[in-house]
Amino acid sequence: MRRAGRITAGARALAGSMVRPGVTTKEIDKAVHDYIVSQGAKPSFLHYAGYPASACISVNDVVIHGIPDGRVLREGDIVSVDVGACWGGFHGDCAATFACGSVSPEAERLIAVTRQSFFEGIRFARQGCRVSDISHAVQTYVEANGFSVVRSFVGHGVGEELHEAPEVPNFGAPGRGPRLIRGMTIAVEPMVNQGTYDVRVLKDKWTTVTVDGKLSAHYENTILITDGEPEILTVTEEN
Ligand code: MF3
Ligand code: CO
Repeated sequence: MRRAGRITAGARALAGSMVRPGVTTKEIDKAVHDYIVSQGAKPSFLHYAGYPASACISVNDVVIHGIPDGRVLREGDIVSVDVGACWGGFHGDCAATFACGSVSPEAERLIAVTRQSFFEGIRFARQGCRVSDISHAVQTYVEANGFSVVRSFVGHGVGEELHEAPEVPNFGAPGRGPRLIRGMTIAVEPMVNQGTYDVRVLKDKWTTVTVDGKLSAHYENTILITDGEPEILTVTEEN
């Protein structure tokens, strides 16, 4: 899981370094694919439930599952990149939203609040806590900052399968759901909207957008529950 996590985080960092005006989302996807393969791993998303690429690249009002294509990134876009890699039979899964050139102050704040909501959530990713303690902490932080959490997609257990039990929502009352036990590996992934939390899926069956056309950001890591602090598995040597 650690090795899969490092490879996945490396792919995310590479994708982030490519986000700039003039680049297409397909170019980023190809780099992600080739990097994962070069590490002796497999892109977890490629062909998963028929998904046609190695990365999900979701621009502006696209919340998740944006399919890489010829779309050219422009100054001011916010670009969510979600990647997964399978090494030795185990998956890593992580995502982050990157600014393309300089973006509006409100877009910057959305990206920062989304990232911080993950860290607020994992304060409760400890043995003895329940899953929804994480959920509640994410929601409380996001809403205190004037944004909303997506309800219809959630985090999840991750291991020999990309998606395993338990579901890890980003909203809800605390003290519910399974108890966390050391050795569990879960993907905590707040998806945060600037306006309403409602989303809809386009006709391609993947691309998920905000119903109000406002911006959305995403931040995800695969983490390990331990005796003490959670260990973030989707990290690179540099961070
Ligand atoms: N990475 C997504 C998640 O965090 C899943 C991507 S769906 C896929 O759960 F089809 F692209 F794989
Ligand atoms: Co995930």
